Amino acid sequence: MTPVRVAVLISGRGSNMAALIEAARAPGCPYRIALVLSNKAGAEGLDAARLAGIETAVVDSAPYGKDREAHERAVDAVLRDHGVEVVALAGYMRILSAWLVGAWAGRMLNIHPSLLPKYPGLQTHARALEAGDSVAGCSVHLVTEGMDEGPVLAQAEVPVLEGDTPETLAERVLSVEHRLYPETLSRFCASLPR
Ligand code: GRF
Repeated sequence: MTPVRVAVLISGRGSNMAALIEAARAPGCPYRIALVLSNKAGAEGLDAARLAGIETAVVDSAPYGKDREAHERAVDAVLRDHGVEVVALAGYMRILSAWLVGAWAGRMLNIHPSLLPKYPGLQTHARALEAGDSVAGCSVHLVTEGMDEGPVLAQAEVPVLEGDTPETLAERVLSVEHRLYPETLSRFCASLPR
């Protein structure tokens, strides 16, 4: 079967993006990364994508100011131009409007560094530590209108260790993100009706 064409949307480092690219190299992977798109020209992940031979695009959000939907329409046009079938958000630091979410309903995934429904939004690791949780982790979910509220497709757990800081916990969670996202995206793409 032809691999599903996936776009990865990033705003920064792109370590999850790199994990998705790497996993797509495996023979029989049900998806291929057709595009990496950033809303920031300086996103570190763009260089890594280019080095990996992946097509990249920048749709800078700054010139659109508060007009979220106009920016999203420009993003959407690039996605459609590249024949994208599934969108994987990976550290894409934009709140999405109902318009973009609706346009990609059931075909847009996100990875979030907490065991949802716990700790949607930012500062997830600090919040887990403050709450005294003994287990932390990450979730891959479908994107719906509410922030980090869509149906969870998969989760992975890590222990919280004595003396953890938000940084040490983030690092431990990130290492399982890099396994969970490719696995879940593969399963999702393999199950898509086409
Ligand atoms: C990850 O922790 C991801 O769960 C969250 O943003 C971070 C992105 O990191 N959505 P990276 O850009 O993939 O390295």
